[in-house]
Formats: sequence, structure tokens, C-alpha cells
Amino acid sequence: MKDTATLEYNGKKYEFPVVEGTEKELAIDIKKLRSSTGMITLDPGYKNTGSCESAITYLDGEKGILRYRGYNIEELAEKADFLEVAYLLIFGELPSKKELEQFHADITHESHVDEEMKKIIDGFPKSAHPMGVLSSLTSALIAFNPTSVNISSEKEMYHAIIRIMAKFPVLVAWTMRKQKGLPLEYGDDSLGYVENLHKMMFKRPNKEYIKNKVVIDALDQLLILHADHEQNCSTSTVRITGSSHAGLFVSLSAGISALWGPLHGGANQAVLEMLEAIAEDGGDYKKYMEKAKDKDDPFRLMGFGHRVYKNFDPRAKIIKKAADGVLGDLGIEDPILEIAKGLEKVALEDKYFVDRKLYPNVDFYSGIIYRALGIPTEMFTVMFAMGRLPGWIAQWREMRLRGEPIGRPRQIYIGENQRPFVALNKR
Ligand code: SDX
Repeated sequence: MKDTATLEYNGKKYEFPVVEGTEKELAIDIKKLRSSTGMITLDPGYKNTGSCESAITYLDGEKGILRYRGYNIEELAEKADFLEVAYLLIFGELPSKKELEQFHADITHESHVDEEMKKIIDGFPKSAHPMGVLSSLTSALIAFNPTSVNISSEKEMYHAIIRIMAKFPVLVAWTMRKQKGLPLEYGDDSLGYVENLHKMMFKRPNKEYIKNKVVIDALDQLLILHADHEQNCSTSTVRITGSSHAGLFVSLSAGISALWGPLHGGANQAVLEMLEAIAEDGGDYKKYMEKAKDKDDPFRLMGFGHRVYKNFDPRAKIIKKAADGVLGDLGIEDPILEIAKGLEKVALEDKYFVDRKLYPNVDFYSGIIYRALGIPTEMFTVMFAMGRLPGWIAQWREMRLRGEPIGRPRQIYIGENQRPFVALNKR
């Protein structure tokens, strides 16, 4: 195979190196395109553009493959726990028992936030969307922690990672408790990472917290399934924010904001609202299918379609199976699940969806489990952010350690040509 690609334009030929990844993916390295041709590429939404080389997550959209550091998502979802997967994504290897225990112990030493943070939370109205609260609180953490990270110091980098891994679950839990008017309490550091998160979220005042293994295991698996997804919108936001050497916490806050959009992580809330609207409409999902296919109707079938996956989203398969299991174990009959399954079946047989390779994505079934776990709909995307935290940290760290340049795309200008200023009294 040739290791260069040739571009021919205006009678001239230009050669560019071809880069091959460890999974045989190929890219044309256009670092010298503008200096040698005077031209740039144009690719709105970066559908054909690689922003970096990364060793963290591998996706194959045609085969429905998702691997974190080489491990298949199906194996990790079944055999690992979320803290183990977080360690794997951030540091590159599955931790030994001793390493995992030390990681958890270091996290518990930092599992408090400055009491002053409660004053910031108090300032939000109960009606504030949890994603706006979480993004603000994550930024606010900077005021109480060292602002910048000397990434050449492994010790400083590790301490920043531990701090955010420890404090983020507190912010997630308090964001939900604020909305419910519950006291902002801590959990119990003697519990596992996810069990402690669940206790902080759900412990009722004056009531003993009773662990439900089905619930904790379901939450743990959902967080694993959301932990990373290569260069998606919010991860690219974290990377480009960090590329200006902005700190880790503020880069994460930017990622939370990007994740909020209904085309991205906000889709899990939009899916549940869509399914509830269909239920209220007598369960007539075919009407919504027609709306989704109507070019003049802005309505999209939320939870369907993906920029990369063109056959199936492996996470959606796992979550759909888990939804049956969790609802069964909890003895919950949720008509919304049946509507979701009916909608999926009809869509997968519909020419419009088949032609455009639109399948259920990670957000289509996840909300049904969150709902069964007692998590309010507006908190679904906060749970996505909780899962994605280690992926964002890993990607930010990789970008900084590789010394990537500041992200600054070019453009093609299509505005006015030069024209003389016109005085106000002449306009
Ligand atoms: C996530 O990138 C990641 O990895 C993201 C994520 C992660 O883990 O980080 O996987 C998480 O964000 C999952 C996606 C959640 N979003 C949704 O469920 C929202 C609904 N889906 C879409 O809006 C859409 O499918 C996207 C945003 C997910 C992908 O959009 P693309 O790749 O830009 O595709 P497109 O908009 O160009 O669509 C191609 C065609 C268009 O029709 P034509 O113009 O060719 O006729 O498919 C149509 C679109 O109109 N289409 C849909 C549709 N999604 C695409 N039509 C109806 N309903 C939909 N959901």
C-alpha cells in the first residue's frame, strides 16, 4: 500500500503522507496542506476529519465495535466495575487489586467539597436545570482548588484527577438533592464508589440507607457504558478548551455544557419526554415516525441515529437487555419500555431509517433504567456526565501529555468584499 496520497489541482501534484492506526484506519496527514497548496479543507461538523491520534478508545461504526484501551465494552460492562474502568481509561491499564484499592483510598481522602460551595448551590432556583447547575459547580470548584495543573508533574496531575473523581459525585448528588429540596449530605467513604454516589443521591433524612444490589449494579454498568466514546462533541470540547492550557476543571465544565445539547447527551432526557408524549398520545408511535421523516418537521426520533455507528450501537444492545433485567428484578411494569420496543421495531423496518442507517443509540433505552432507579428525567444527562467523567479526564490528559497545539480551525469567508465606511448621516 502506498504511504502517500496525491492531490492534483490546477495542473500541479501534491503528495501527502498517509497515516495508519493500529486498527488499520487510514488518514491523509494534511499538516502541510495550506503551506504547500495555499488551500484548506472544508468539513462542517468534522464528519471526515480526524482531530488527533488517540490510544484511549476505538470505535468501528460499521461493525459496532467499542473498546476502551483495547478491551471490548461487552466484557468491561459484564466483568469490571466503574472505578476500575475509570482507572483503565485514565492510566491505560487495568489496575491491580492494590492499585485499585489505593486509587479508591486516595479518592475518599478528597471526597468533600468546601462548605462555601453550598452557598453557591443555594443561589440557584429549584427550577434550574441540573446540567446548568453541574456545569457551574464544576467551574466553581476552581475557586477552592489549585487552578492550573503542572502536567509535567505526575504527582500534581494525579492529585488533580483524584480531586475531581472525588468531588464530582458530590456535585452530582447535591444537584439532584437541591432540586428535590433535600439536605446536602455526604455518603459513606467505606462504601464502593458507585454505592457511595447512590447513597449521596438517595439517602432520605431520618431513614436508614438500604443498599439494593440490583440498583447499584445497574447504575455501575450504565456509568461504564457512558465512560468514553473517542472524539464526540463534548470530548472534543474538553480537548479544545484544554488545548489553550485552560485547567482540567474548567475544561470539564465546558464539556458538560456541550453534552447538554439534545443532539448529544441531552438526548436521553429528550427520548423519555418523546416516549411520554407518545404514551399520552395513546401510544401511537407511527405518528411520531411520520413526523421524524417529514423534512418540514424539526422533530427527530430522539435516541436514534449516530455519527459513527451505522449498524448498531453496542451500548444500546447492552442497555436494552439490562432494562428488561432491572425492571424485572425491581418488579416494575413500565409501559414506556414497551412503547420504546415497538418504536424500535417499526423504525428498523422503515425504509427511511434503514436507508439512512439510523439505529437506537446509547440514549434510547438508558432513560428507562434511570427512571426505574428513581432518577428524575432532568437528571439523566447529569448521569451521562458522571459516566463520561473518566473519559473526559483521560482525553484531556492525553492531549496535554502529547503536547497537542491549541485548537484553531480555519474557515472559508463568504461575507462582503472590502467596502468603504459610510458616515451615519449618509446611511
Ligand atoms: C450521543 O458522537 C458520539 O459518540 C456521541 C455519543 C457519545 O457517547 O458521546 O454516542 C452520545 O450523542 C448519541 C446521539 C444522541 N442524539 C440523538 O439521539 C438525537 C437524534 N439523532 C440525531 O440528531 C442524529 O442522528 C445525530 C446528531 C446523532 C447524528 O447526526 P449526523 O451524523 O450529523 O447525521 P445527519 O444529521 O446528517 O443525518 C443524516 C440523515 C438526515 O436525513 P437526510 O438529510 O439525509 O434526508 O439522517 C436523518 C437526517 O435528517 N436523521 C434523522 C435522525 N438522525 C438523522 N431523522 C430522524 N430522526 C433522527 N434521529
